[in-house]
Amino acid sequence: MQNNLAGEIQRLKKERNAIILAHNYQVPEVQDVADVVGDSFSLSQHAAETDSDVIVFCGVHFMAESAKILSPDKTVLLPVRDAGCPMADMVTAPKLREMKARYPDAAVVCYVNSSAEVKAESDVCCTSSNALKVVESLENKQVIFVPDKNLGSFVASKVKNKEIILWKGFCITHKRVKVEEVQKIRQLHPNAKILMHPECEPEVQKLADFLGSTSAIIKYAGEIPEKDIIIGTEEGIIHLLKKQNPDKNFYLLSTGLICTNMKKTRLEDVHSALLNMQHEIHVDENIRIKALKSLERMLKIK
Ligand code: 13P
Ligand code: SF4
Repeated sequence: MQNNLAGEIQRLKKERNAIILAHNYQVPEVQDVADVVGDSFSLSQHAAETDSDVIVFCGVHFMAESAKILSPDKTVLLPVRDAGCPMADMVTAPKLREMKARYPDAAVVCYVNSSAEVKAESDVCCTSSNALKVVESLENKQVIFVPDKNLGSFVASKVKNKEIILWKGFCITHKRVKVEEVQKIRQLHPNAKILMHPECEPEVQKLADFLGSTSAIIKYAGEIPEKDIIIGTEEGIIHLLKKQNPDKNFYLLSTGLICTNMKKTRLEDVHSALLNMQHEIHVDENIRIKALKSLERMLKIK
């Protein structure tokens, strides 16, 4: 049945001249029908570069929206309409405008996990891999960082000559990792390296051997000699890690590392998306142009 569905997806994909992009957290069967599996921003870049007319974005809303901002002429589909990111919803454009009014000299840096409206209100975007470089590139002494307070405080701990004003957003999935869990798993696997996403809480981050975006974690896991690797991010990433490193052992840092929104997309939804051309992402053109500026400014920072 699943094979039939996968075959039908491939047939429809050709018929529609579509590309399927899947985030590293998607369920294995969705990753396996995708043309590209990657982190949130690299997938948007693929979306911008593809010749396909249709992009099926298997991930959450802000990711598909970023693809649409970068590729306005393409049809971008999100297979499950309500696959959202609770952290992205923790900041809105009106609330951000209020904060900007309180700090008129501050630059606004927004993590890509945010809506198009919030990107449009920001000076520059960042990802979990380049947040530090983006903040360091700014001349402003004050920086408002939205919405992730954990990624923001990681940046603040490294940048000493700026005041980083943190928004109070967080990822409900990564927040579940507890210091005691890290200590326990270290004892169980003393020779293992702990690779973690910077959305974890600061006291948990301090116990990591490596911090980076999902793709940075995958790259690092492939490069290090250690056979035992502990993963501090959403469990969907283990599928690709095992595929690429069959001789290594991967352990999940916490059983809480499951993002229910990322798990909403099933093979059936990818099929329906292509069959019925649903659910199309639209971004208001004025907002899109402003949001694009923030994304493009980030891309220019080397
Ligand atoms: P990446 O950009 O590292 O893929 O992360 C996206 C995300 O939602 C992490 O929780
Ligand atoms: Fe959002 Fe966290 Fe899920 Fe990533 S893991 S999509 S930040 S809720």
